Amino acid sequence: MSSDISRLRKFVSPEIIFGSGARKTVANYASTFGARKVMVVSDPGVEAAGWVDEIETLLAEQCIPCVRFTDVSPNPRVEQIMRGAELYREQGCNVIVAVGGGSPMDCAKGIGIVSTHGRSIIEFEGVDRIESPIPPLIFIPTTAGTSADVSQFAIISNTEERFKFSIVSKSVVPDVALIDPDTTRTMDSFLTACTGVDALVHAIEAFVSTGSGALTDMHALDAIRLINTHLALLVEQPEDGHLREQVMLGSMKAGLAFSNAILGAVHAMSHSLGGYLDLPHGLCNAMLLEHVIDYNYSAATDRFRVVAETMGIDPRGLSQSQIKRRLMQHVIALKREVGLYQSLAEQGVHITDIPYLSQNAIKDPCILTNPRKSNRRDVEAVYEEAL
Ligand SMILES: [Fe+2]
Repeated sequence: MSSDISRLRKFVSPEIIFGSGARKTVANYASTFGARKVMVVSDPGVEAAGWVDEIETLLAEQCIPCVRFTDVSPNPRVEQIMRGAELYREQGCNVIVAVGGGSPMDCAKGIGIVSTHGRSIIEFEGVDRIESPIPPLIFIPTTAGTSADVSQFAIISNTEERFKFSIVSKSVVPDVALIDPDTTRTMDSFLTACTGVDALVHAIEAFVSTGSGALTDMHALDAIRLINTHLALLVEQPEDGHLREQVMLGSMKAGLAFSNAILGAVHAMSHSLGGYLDLPHGLCNAMLLEHVIDYNYSAATDRFRVVAETMGIDPRGLSQSQIKRRLMQHVIALKREVGLYQSLAEQGVHITDIPYLSQNAIKDPCILTNPRKSNRRDVEAVYEEAL
């Protein structure tokens, strides 16, 4: 029997409650964790949509006091985490509930880390740098895409130096994810498109990742199928509860796949881009996706063939380059159907930005599991193609 350690695979996941009404169990879980006082982390948009009031009412009904923290921007920042952690300690909180998309959820992870360790969040960049257990995390996602509610990633913006950094640790996998498709009702169509394409990228990158395996493949392929089938319809019919549930399920499965198989060059390059220009994460991924498929295809032809089949392309009788082209065309068509036409140049990227973007992208942990080994020049060439 082979004892090659590089072939071993692990799978971590929170306890997941999935379905309409899942959010209403929040107070039961907070009690189970012995909550004295809960910090509810969210952002102004989610607050205005009414979700924060509802969660606080549910907690109050079980006599659990809470303090609200909503000073969170898209692409959450180092200073926001530090302020949140200070408030958490001052107020004597012992449980964190996050309600929102990737930004409040990643900020909540950061607050948990800093409140426990008492040091700057910057010191935890990288893989497995967290030394002590952090407070219980109960996460309620209100978008269907980022999957910070099931993942072992937190992505933070260092605005002073204009880059994003990744924290990867089992410690930031939430204890409980209350995944409730009802909460995505308040997303507009641009957010639905960006987060849905982000989820599709998670699934594709996880499936072709060098860290992929039997524990994640089934989730990745299910996610590709679910998002490919339902996302464009959901953008057209945002009130349809069944479509919302299917896209949320796809997003969750993509999250379980990528949290464990890790990602690839789309995310490494998109983190660099989002940190530099403060653009929406899903949009960054969308602008890069087909160009990275073009670059990676030859390094994982069998895997990409399965991706193409799962997206409804019949590869029989086609050469590898024909399958690649069909897959790229399919991805572009899907993006257009959901209203994403943007290119890097239109978003303000100049050719002179590419060396800096590439330098950060090759330092991102996601580049390590990309199926094709990549150096700085390779990454520069892909950015140039996407311009
Ligand atoms: Fe992502």
